[in-house]
Amino acid sequence: MTAPRLPSPLREAVDERFARRGVRLLLKRDDLIHPDLVGNKWRKLTPNLALAAGRTLVTFGGAYSNHLRATAAAGRLLGLPTLGVVRGQELAGRPLNPSLARCAADGMRLHFVDRSTYRRKAEPETLAEILRATGTEDAYVVPEGGSNAPAVRGCRTLGEELRGHGVDVAALACGTGGTLAGLAAGLAPDQRALGVPVLRGGFLGAETESLQTAAFGGRRGTWSLDDR
Ligand SMILES: Cc1ncc(COP(=O)(O)O)c(C=O)c1O
Repeated sequence: MTAPRLPSPLREAVDERFARRGVRLLLKRDDLIHPDLVGNKWRKLTPNLALAAGRTLVTFGGAYSNHLRATAAAGRLLGLPTLGVVRGQELAGRPLNPSLARCAADGMRLHFVDRSTYRRKAEPETLAEILRATGTEDAYVVPEGGSNAPAVRGCRTLGEELRGHGVDVAALACGTGGTLAGLAAGLAPDQRALGVPVLRGGFLGAETESLQTAAFGGRRGTWSLDDR
């Protein structure tokens, strides 16, 4: 695999409105890490690919999931078989949208499930049934969004790279909370992380804390969420 470009560059967004208020806005260009595996995807997937150790990597996503795209690309780059479980049985048999077509072109096998099965995918019986139906009983399973303990530990370097540089607050969008969980753990004690959930539901605080507990044994760093 092409070597990642680490640490990813930190670029200033210069605007006189920031300057007037004495604020500097720096953009952590994690999208420049790797041509095919960008940003948090590289940080989350590489520890998991190492743990998969040649087994099929099974993961989950919607029809436009960037996580599925990244997993398929990672599988191609490392020669690892991948299977994507896609939400929406109605998509089966139809032409693939560009996102899923990319997954397929990267060698990912696609398995469509109805929405109710998809919602229950983390339940042991439902998961076992999906693995049985796809002949991947010995697979290495990565949850939706790629957020598990190895992924969170992989995202800690994102925080570590932000130590110093005059950074007081690191703000980021949150889907599953995995990136925030890792980033916050890597920051220096005088820095804090601010997560902005992109999904409604108010579940993300508990989710982020439980990911930190799985990855590090407890809550780490200073972080909060802004639900507005
Ligand atoms: C740029 C960016 N920031 C944040 C996130 C949210 O990640 P997480 O699901 O770990 O909260 C994503 C989604 O993967 C993303 O692409």
